Amino acid sequence: MQIEPQAFDRVLSSMCTEPHPAARDAAERFLATNPGDPGTYPNVSALEDDAISLLGEIAGLDDPAGYVTSGGTEANIQAVRIARERTDSRTPNIVMPESGHFSFQKAADLLGVELRIVPTDDRHRADLEAVRASVDEDTALVIGVAGTTEYGRVDPIPELGEIAQSSDAMLHVDAAWGGFVLPFTDYEWHFGHAAVDTMTIDPHKMGQAAVPSGGLLVRSPDLLDELAVDTPYLESTSQATLTGTRSGAGVASAVAAMETLWPAGYRSQYVRSQNNAEWLADALEKRGYRVADPTLPLVAADVPRSTFDALRAKGWRISRTATGELRVVCMPHVSREMLASFIGDLDRLEVRASVPVASDD
Ligand SMILES: Cc1ncc(COP(=O)(O)O)c(C=O)c1O
Repeated sequence: MQIEPQAFDRVLSSMCTEPHPAARDAAERFLATNPGDPGTYPNVSALEDDAISLLGEIAGLDDPAGYVTSGGTEANIQAVRIARERTDSRTPNIVMPESGHFSFQKAADLLGVELRIVPTDDRHRADLEAVRASVDEDTALVIGVAGTTEYGRVDPIPELGEIAQSSDAMLHVDAAWGGFVLPFTDYEWHFGHAAVDTMTIDPHKMGQAAVPSGGLLVRSPDLLDELAVDTPYLESTSQATLTGTRSGAGVASAVAAMETLWPAGYRSQYVRSQNNAEWLADALEKRGYRVADPTLPLVAADVPRSTFDALRAKGWRISRTATGELRVVCMPHVSREMLASFIGDLDRLEVRASVPVASDD
């Protein structure tokens, strides 16, 4: 029997979503192309330039450089690699708030740099004093997150930039998830707002492109030189990517999604997702749960483990934060009807839990 991909109608915790129809179509058309070999596949390679210009426009970068990665993990690893190549330190460290994505642990492991994890404040944002106390002359990179994985929070990016500059380190902003919603908020998060050197911004998350489509942006093209290796058997002379052969589908679908949706489509999607998050937060609060304020379209609430497990048993694809809260990401496929149905299931479970167990005595 052929296994079908699962439907999205109960998926509430993923940071991926159904691709936009234009993105899906482009992915199919470019499936058999490899932007890793631009001498052989020049069309998809030209499309990648378009992808980087569009990403640059979204992220406030006038003269953008970068490439379409396999996802946020690759972009984060490459950002750490650039910083490690740039520093003079023989024992480099990188400083990250505890809200940073686990991909930085992989990066630190692979690249042999020390990962210094600092606490967040009571709003789940990087604690600036803790960052200041952690940087030293061996710090190669300070990491800020613009849209954290667990609570959707935005670190104080300009201040992190100042701290990085004061210790001669670079600043990387991980906007893997937040990058396609933040342009419609007042947050200061991008290259135009702060001394950002590198950024992760993934079309395959809120950008509605097909997987695999991540993004690495760098403030100036010479930063990519830190990643480049010679490519003797290809017609192109060097390659800055981590993977060799790459998916042309990811590149083409990123361009198709961004050309279709930037900016008006993404703006209305943000408004819809944010309204849904606020509706869900309100519904959970009314039922007595403690909810972390959804500053971006992501809701975390302290639903008990037994309720969480019962909701999963009903087929809801939900996940928990490190401290055990229910986590719902209001991605484009998450509709108000889905959320209402989720709350309906929660109510039925609560009613059942509150019915006294019949006793034989
Ligand atoms: C903030 C952030 N950075 C990086 C990643 C890793 O992205 P990927 O899973 O595409 O490698 C994620 C994944 O959810 C994320 O939320």
